[in-house]
Amino acid sequence: MRTHYCGDLNATLTGEEIAVTGWVHRRRDHGGVIFIDLRDREGILQVVCDPDTAELFAQAERIRSEFVLAIKGKVRPRPEGTINPNMPSGEIEVLATELTILNAAETPPFHHDEKPHEDLRLQYRYLDLRREEMTERLKLRHRVTRSMRSFLDENGFLDIETPILTRATPEGARDYVVPSRTQPGKFFALPQSPQLFKQLLMMSGMDRYYQIARCFRDEDLRADRQPEFTQLDIEMSFVDEEDIMTMMEGLMCQLFVEAIAVELPQPFPRLGWHEAMERFGSDKPDLRIPLELVDVADLMDGVEFKVFAGPAADPEGRVAALKLTGGAELSRKDIDGYTEFVSRYGAKGLAYIKVNDPAAGRDGLQSPILKFLPDETVQGIIDRLQLAAGDIVFFGADKRTVVCDALGALREKLGHDRGLVEGDWSPLWVVDFPLFERDEKEGRWSALHHPFTAPDSADADALRNDPGKAGSRAYDMVLNGTEVGGGSIRIHDEQMQSAVFDVLGIEPEEAETKFGFLLKALKYGCPPHGGIAFGLDRLIMLMAGAESIRDVIAFPKTQSASCLLTDAPGEVSQQQLREVGIRLRKTEQN
Ligand code: AMO
Ligand code: AMP
Repeated sequence: MRTHYCGDLNATLTGEEIAVTGWVHRRRDHGGVIFIDLRDREGILQVVCDPDTAELFAQAERIRSEFVLAIKGKVRPRPEGTINPNMPSGEIEVLATELTILNAAETPPFHHDEKPHEDLRLQYRYLDLRREEMTERLKLRHRVTRSMRSFLDENGFLDIETPILTRATPEGARDYVVPSRTQPGKFFALPQSPQLFKQLLMMSGMDRYYQIARCFRDEDLRADRQPEFTQLDIEMSFVDEEDIMTMMEGLMCQLFVEAIAVELPQPFPRLGWHEAMERFGSDKPDLRIPLELVDVADLMDGVEFKVFAGPAADPEGRVAALKLTGGAELSRKDIDGYTEFVSRYGAKGLAYIKVNDPAAGRDGLQSPILKFLPDETVQGIIDRLQLAAGDIVFFGADKRTVVCDALGALREKLGHDRGLVEGDWSPLWVVDFPLFERDEKEGRWSALHHPFTAPDSADADALRNDPGKAGSRAYDMVLNGTEVGGGSIRIHDEQMQSAVFDVLGIEPEEAETKFGFLLKALKYGCPPHGGIAFGLDRLIMLMAGAESIRDVIAFPKTQSASCLLTDAPGEVSQQQLREVGIRLRKTEQN
């Protein structure tokens, strides 16, 4: 039907007879001559319909936006003054000799040049994807996966598929469950990741595995979370952390060069988890922002101001300060805005001090909390934060996690609001995570990564006795403040795996029911192994400069996990329910 893509035509083809197909991007009637901008995946071409060819011209008069056409014609240079340097085909146009309307189109709900509300875009996703911005993102996604596959193939990885209908995999979210017809009352779970299968593949001797794998997690959705998302999932045998991290840096660097011509700075810096939390209040810090948290709890000894004194005396508490150079110019309204912002992270307030003249001590400062602080504390703050005229210091005082979350988020917000972001790309590894975290409310331990992550010591008894002390052999890759990947060296010893289940409060019987197959496999010759999984959607979102992963997924779901295009999830018939042995409870609506 065609000889070229519209976007591939250029001046080298001048004088040639060509055939193109595509959609009507725009039709312009210039009193006697009709111009059609014809669009396909690769770009836009200007087609001229001359009234001399009467039949063709009559057809051209009928066409509207988004009609699908086949056009034959001759390539000719555009007249002087009508050249468009912004498009590859901008020097030429095609004089149509044949025009066929392959399909008409109703007036679309939005024009190609508009970007309407996201709900409308998702409902008419096929129209939205025709927009150049979206087409380019899907092409980028293709280049990225192609580059991943070629790198991994060159390095001896086998692409192996794992089941979608499976048992629950513990990655910390709720499962999507699928009822079984052949075994009424039983359910499959969709995998939250291929974690257990990739470990079993190592036990099967596959040595190096990868898969571009769909994962399903029923969790609260955000801009960087979808219920169904894609991982580049990787596992290797007979390796340690260094082997995996080195290989993955190589992958990432090649990917960035091949897909977007960016050289990432190498080697990626490494940051311990504790240090990351202390300095940046986050386990995925954006190092392009030159602001840091500074601890000041020790300056609060004997201070009467309860807001600070309480958390300062609490072993679980933290009192930290964040200095913003030049921030004294912030208005009352700005500060109220930031106070509201940190409250979303649980902060009960946002104390601040503005600096006029640090040499003048207390008199050179301005703040509603000064009157609550003794001179030594005030001077201590001036010295530790090296305050200068024009600065503002914000304070967070609360449980450690609240202070880290609130000031960590404020740090990033201030960085963006004040234009402090330095450089384009800042990859790093976060390492030395704790193995467990304590849920005080529930009074139990949970795995910071997942229960198959190896501890940094081989002593199973020590682990049982003092779980809070155990470090893990996990690592996360962080890019510009987003966790793009995470992995670990795995437990490959049945005793240690049982000890971890113990700490997590998983009874032996429960462990046997849920993970018996894994525990058994560990007894039949398991190689030391480890791996990682990258969030493909997040990675592409960053590479594309998109705001949300929904913008780099062809058919994403909304915040409430529905598909506006197909209207899924939908109802099923009574017959289907009966077959799987399910009776619905009456809800209030029906
Ligand atoms: P983890 O749970 O850290 O590890 O997931 C790996 C990466 O997947 C991305 N990601 C998501 N992306 C979009 N939507 C979501 N809901 C979502 N959840 C996670 C993140 C994350 O870094 N089995 C382990 C990996 C391993 O240990 O090898 C796992 O799944 O970018
Ligand atoms: P209050 O005594 O509650 O009026 O608080 C005095 C100042 O301390 C106000 O500027 C509050 O925003 C701030 N503040 C209150 N609680 C906290 C907290 N937990 N962390 C930091 N600042 C706080």
